[in-house]
Amino acid sequence: APQPVRLEDYRPPAYHVEQARLRIDLSGETARVDARLELRRNPAAAPEDTALRLDAEFLELEALHLDGEALDPAALRAADGALVIPDPGARCRVETTSRFRPAENTALSGLYRSGRMYCTQCEAEGFRRITPYPDRPDVLAPFTTTLIADRTACPVLLSNGDCIEAGALDEQRHYAVWHDPYPKPAYLFAVVAGDLSCQEERFTTASGREVALRFYTEPGNAGRTEHALASLKRAMRWDEQQYGLEYDLDTYMVVAVGDFNMGAMENKGLNVFNTQFVLASPDTATDADYEGVEAVIGHEYFHNWTGNRVTCRDWFQLSLKEGLTVFREHQFAEAMGSAAIERIRQVRLLRSAQFPEDAGPMAHPVQPKSYVEINNFYTATVYAKGAEVIRMYRTLLGDTPFRRGVRRYLERHDGEAATIDDFLACMEEASGADLQQFSRWYHQAGTPQVTVRDEYDPEREVYTLHCRQHTPATPEQPRKAPMHIPLAVGLLGPDGAPLPVQLAGEPADEAAHTRVLELREAEERFEIAGCPQRPTPSLLRGFSAPVAVEYPYSDDDLAFLLARDPDPFARWEAGQQLAVRVLLAEAAGEPRPGGLERLEAAFRGALEAPGADPALTAEVLTLPSETYLAEQLEVVDPQAIHDARAGLRRALGQALTAHWQALCEQHPGRPWRHSAEEAAQRRLANLALSYLVAGSPRHLDRALQQLERSDNLTDRLAALAVLADSEAPQAERAIEAFHQRWRDEPLVVDKWFRVQATASRPDALEQVERLTRHPDFTLDNPNRARALLGAFAQGNPACFHSPDGRGYRLLADHVLALDARNPQLAARLLGPLSHWRRYEPQRRTAMREQLERILAQPALSKDVHEVASRSLEAA
Ligand code: ARG
Ligand code: ZN
Repeated sequence: APQPVRLEDYRPPAYHVEQARLRIDLSGETARVDARLELRRNPAAAPEDTALRLDAEFLELEALHLDGEALDPAALRAADGALVIPDPGARCRVETTSRFRPAENTALSGLYRSGRMYCTQCEAEGFRRITPYPDRPDVLAPFTTTLIADRTACPVLLSNGDCIEAGALDEQRHYAVWHDPYPKPAYLFAVVAGDLSCQEERFTTASGREVALRFYTEPGNAGRTEHALASLKRAMRWDEQQYGLEYDLDTYMVVAVGDFNMGAMENKGLNVFNTQFVLASPDTATDADYEGVEAVIGHEYFHNWTGNRVTCRDWFQLSLKEGLTVFREHQFAEAMGSAAIERIRQVRLLRSAQFPEDAGPMAHPVQPKSYVEINNFYTATVYAKGAEVIRMYRTLLGDTPFRRGVRRYLERHDGEAATIDDFLACMEEASGADLQQFSRWYHQAGTPQVTVRDEYDPEREVYTLHCRQHTPATPEQPRKAPMHIPLAVGLLGPDGAPLPVQLAGEPADEAAHTRVLELREAEERFEIAGCPQRPTPSLLRGFSAPVAVEYPYSDDDLAFLLARDPDPFARWEAGQQLAVRVLLAEAAGEPRPGGLERLEAAFRGALEAPGADPALTAEVLTLPSETYLAEQLEVVDPQAIHDARAGLRRALGQALTAHWQALCEQHPGRPWRHSAEEAAQRRLANLALSYLVAGSPRHLDRALQQLERSDNLTDRLAALAVLADSEAPQAERAIEAFHQRWRDEPLVVDKWFRVQATASRPDALEQVERLTRHPDFTLDNPNRARALLGAFAQGNPACFHSPDGRGYRLLADHVLALDARNPQLAARLLGPLSHWRRYEPQRRTAMREQLERILAQPALSKDVHEVASRSLEAA
């Protein structure tokens, strides 16, 4: 089995790279890379660490020179392919020549071909597939890169920094020289070459620097970058205003690439984006895609400071840049749109992706302590829970000290590779707080469970909250210490009026309607004075910590909070909890008496509330996902959950037909336009359409009409989703026609696959099997593989978990087929099988069998091996 890398084994690099010069020739089938590295011994390295290690993989090394003398690479080769030069001296120059074939680089890590262009993805460890190099984030160097390619095939040649020279080489070839003055780790290196269209705009920074913003796409996608460009300008301005951070080069380039393992990559001055997160037009992107583009554009831009100017010492610090940058992305989204709606969406994602991870065999702390394959740790825990940890600093310390801490961190570590401890130290200094206990959020895995009980003393007018916290055992961490948890609490009087939350013994503050209680012990109590009547508590307002809270609310309490809580997040949460109760009881075969009626009344209330925000109404009317419901149970029967949810949707569809119909009829009021308000109206109207059809198939015609007449993908896709659930022949014809109409638009075809993979019809598994043989299906394009297989395994629990195990076999077959070509993607698709222990016995066994079958294959990648073996081993 492959050996893990451990945080405790970290050693500073033996050598620094003072200069990296590359010459990359892409003019033939085989790429040739000449590298010249000026190296200097690191005075901070241990005296016995004298060997220079150059990571290398996927390369044919043709020549290796040390200070001009040829060395024999075969004699220096380590077991993992790296070159190890025993003691090259205090200063040295290493020159290498290597070759590889970009078209055969199907792993999409390193330098590869996508369509007709060349591009790179170096994070985390792809640079070693371009040239031998100390490929670790704590080795920072200024890069000068010469790119050579065919003039007609690749008129555009890009790399990091500024272009300092360009010209013709001969009849066929040309070159460009790029220089990036900011020392950076190799994972931020990028090159792009191809025949690309460019859309350019300008941005003037607060201090007056003129920045050229250039967005490159394949010619067919020109004209779809407007939204991304506008988003980038908003992000740049927001970061100046919020954090005082400006851009630091003269050009900011973004390239859209069709084949990409992740969402996007923050390479210095030259971001590479999955087309899905940069291109947007009303025919090819939904409202959610427009939001996704703005979020990811912001995310990668914010990395320029949190990630690039200050980077990570090693990959155990990944959340240092990702948690902080996701938090900044969230703040940006909250500032651009509705803060409450953004928060609800963040929490939905955390609960459906991170909570299950934290409760499963891949559970790991925000700062993992060991890994076999680092690409397996670009997880919801490192990203989303990491962002929640950053948010908690702000909640606990206050906004001003928090921003002071971020500034201090960026100033102190500018140009360096830092650690999570460095960040925490800056926060302590900026606030004067002791964050010792808080640091457990980085080290302990698992979602803390907070149980709240209360009592009321009418004599003293004191209301007491008793809080108990417990973090469940996770692999390798059987026992947990208490966490420092900010629990935001509000109180409502019987008439719904908010009451001040005034801790006994503290001065009265009439304005304090939300109070952050700081939990530090396994058990503790908080006395709140000045309560003339027994209040209803509103707990975890704004989702103040990534925990699960349990309090014995009555159904009446929840309905009351849903109607009256002034905190929109808490209102939504109360509605979700009410729905969870009704659905879980139904799934267990013990329907909750009066549950449906109560939920119907709550929905009616939300639909009729005067002046309600349609975006919040849509969130309230969206039932909790099957995944989130499954998460509430010890033993999961996905079919029972699906049937309960589908049954409730049908009942609500019928009970509120007139309301749904009215919403549909108002829609569409006018031609499509991108705006948050109109997106919310579309969302509400399309939710209404889906309830209507769930209530009765006679409303299918409405969906058919909408599909025909809409002027935008959001409405078309909502109609298509409703049709995909149906087995009616006219629905199947419409789906076929949609494919005919949009077959030349890859991102739309992805949606077409996704909608069928997640369809709520009993034969969806057979459909997915059929679609794997569709001429447009390919495992070579990650978006396509995710659209069919990822969407099916994650978004269609009832059919994926077919009790005969066919869904599992289908997934395992494709994971194995993919593993030899793209291990990163294969390991990601395997994820859903890892949760096998949670399912009822028949499914549990069938899932385990597929994991065992995978693990028994010879020559598995580290990526898939780690996921499969961890899934089987942890108890
Ligand atoms: N740093 C990128 C981002 O979050 C993600 C790149 C991850 N790449 C990988 N191969 N794991 O914006
Ligand atoms: Zn990131």
